[in-house]
Amino acid sequence: MSFLRRPLALGRPFLRAVGSSPPAGPISSASTNISAFMPEAAAFPGVRDYPSLLHLSLGQADRFWAALARDRLSWISPFHTASDCDLARGKVRWFEGGRLNVSVNCIDRHVHTSPDKVALIWERDEPGTHVKITYRHLLEMTCRVANTLKRHGVRKGDRVTIYMPASPIAVASMLACARIGAVHTVVFAGFSADALADRIRDGQSETVITTNQAVRGGRIIELKQTVDQAVRKCPSVKHVLVAKRTENEVPMSSIDIPLEEEMMKEEAVCDPVAMESEDPLFLLYTSGSTGKPKGLVHTQAGYLLYTSVTHRYVFDYHEGDVFGCVADIGWITGHSYVVYGPLCNGGTSVLFESTPVYPNPGRYWEMVERLKINQFYGAPTAIRLLFKYGDEWVKSHDRTSLKILGSVGEPINAEAWDWYYRVVGDERCPVVDTWWQTETGGICIAPRPAARDAEIVPAMAMRPFFGINPVLMDDQGKKLMDNNTSGPLCIAQAWPGMARTIHNDHDRFVNTYFKPYPNYFFTGDGAYRSEKGYYQITGRLDDVINISGHRLGTAEIEGAVNQHRVVAESAAIGCAHEIKGEASYVFIILKDGVDMSEAVIRQELKDIVSQKIAKYAAPDHIQIVKRLPKTRSGKIMRRVLRKIAESKLDELGDLTTLDDHTAVQEIVAGHRQMLKEEAEQPASRH
Ligand code: WT7
Repeated sequence: MSFLRRPLALGRPFLRAVGSSPPAGPISSASTNISAFMPEAAAFPGVRDYPSLLHLSLGQADRFWAALARDRLSWISPFHTASDCDLARGKVRWFEGGRLNVSVNCIDRHVHTSPDKVALIWERDEPGTHVKITYRHLLEMTCRVANTLKRHGVRKGDRVTIYMPASPIAVASMLACARIGAVHTVVFAGFSADALADRIRDGQSETVITTNQAVRGGRIIELKQTVDQAVRKCPSVKHVLVAKRTENEVPMSSIDIPLEEEMMKEEAVCDPVAMESEDPLFLLYTSGSTGKPKGLVHTQAGYLLYTSVTHRYVFDYHEGDVFGCVADIGWITGHSYVVYGPLCNGGTSVLFESTPVYPNPGRYWEMVERLKINQFYGAPTAIRLLFKYGDEWVKSHDRTSLKILGSVGEPINAEAWDWYYRVVGDERCPVVDTWWQTETGGICIAPRPAARDAEIVPAMAMRPFFGINPVLMDDQGKKLMDNNTSGPLCIAQAWPGMARTIHNDHDRFVNTYFKPYPNYFFTGDGAYRSEKGYYQITGRLDDVINISGHRLGTAEIEGAVNQHRVVAESAAIGCAHEIKGEASYVFIILKDGVDMSEAVIRQELKDIVSQKIAKYAAPDHIQIVKRLPKTRSGKIMRRVLRKIAESKLDELGDLTTLDDHTAVQEIVAGHRQMLKEEAEQPASRH
């Protein structure tokens, strides 16, 4: 496969930390008794330390996960088989025979022990106006939404699309689906009407839940209007439940149902449906290397167990802690570490509705002070942004509640890591750089500060979690055995949290993840393994780019751009960006006879990408070219385009396979000209 030969992105400036880093702060080197760290380890007599427990979790995976599943989850009936997996065929099944209800695990059992404990703290966009929701209250809301869904014909197995900003009613909607066995598909509320319609259609949802409006950074967003536009393209939609985020009235049609009004007519109790372990819990769409996003399917017990265990041990979450993951519920991070992991553990989870810079760049730290957050989990892109605003915004707030800082979504550069550790955490709080994916369900590689016996190297994800067996591959598809080496990252064994299939396309699931390296799960990422055996993620190997921690396929961008009437051909690539990690850069060839100013073309192309996908996807740079560098067989050489986009002209590499290498000179000249023009113009608003 061609992408395997692409050089790894190790040279990128934000990965300089490799191998040169001092151990970070407060972790002592004294080894710890494992059951002090992990009480469930008492089930394995003879296992005394972390390495031997890790060893057991791999060598006796069934025994390990079965013990944890019995201990941590409440079952309606017990499972008879811990796992039945065959990675070569993409077959993954855990805890068969068992039946349970995820909403009961996340709510009811905590209502029995501590009904007035706070489950959610909704950090609303309006500064200083958080709302606390107890477990008892969350159960009532969930049951009322569940009964409303049932009344409107939603049955076990039906898909329900949730297009809402982070809010208690959104979480109650997810859990209401889980309660009645419906399958939720949350679509990030920043996606456009077209993108929403594609996902509604692919998931065949007949029901959509949304809000009248959204509020973000002090501005009103007409969310319901976007749903109206999407639903016009989806005749299968029968009902749109509309919750009120604001007091403003929005036009309602015959399929629209005011959610709170309906809920109030319903009982606050609803019998949970007994679900099989392998029944689907949700679909979540994510980008791949084609133009069509994939609806990854996660199931009930394995996913819930894995999020619960990782939440507990990666973040050292203890009873009474306030867990602050600022990801949106529209992404997997929000599913696993705002909703399912923390609630399964009976924790208190913050739901962040705002932005890191509203009303000022102190927002996160003011919130940490006010809500007394103990674990803060955010994205490198936000850290890099806040770093630019300086230390004062951090230092003016009390952060003594913080114990652990987490990072997720993209590689974190050494400078940002250092600032996060030194300034935000006052050199007191371990930073956990957590690597995982929509496909993996939960964190797979991360330092383990809770074990208290482990060094942390800055900007490295470092160690596999229990049950995770990472391997690096060579060009021939063989496992690399040495340390101090890089290669495509695979995982050699199944674990309970991994995705089970792609909705309606199991072949794509098998071909994407299990065919490239038979018998291994292929992540699509490259990684470096240090002398000491620690992992550092070097970035994607496929045509997926990562803009501010959001995945996007270059083929999706090209698909949108190509719909513009002036475009004959296009090539989108990702290039390094100081804040966003990566930005998209699009090269286009115009159709003959186009008579439009370049500035207008650029603006219209940015608009079309915003309209077809989402605002964050709009390209930062659009360069109009006459030809694209192609191989003799007609394949665009993206490697060359990427180097040009990053102005690394001395790294263009071997151009002898190019059909006509004068094309490259032309593009380089055009790139320089474009940079000059951009420098003279005010920055684009995207
Ligand atoms: C891709 C997955 C994991 C939840 C949020 C993103 C990149 C993720 C890290 C990290 C370097 C990372 C990878 C991965 N990524 N975490 N700690 N260091 N890269 O989930 O949207 O499914 O994206 O994000 O490239 O494949 P996602």
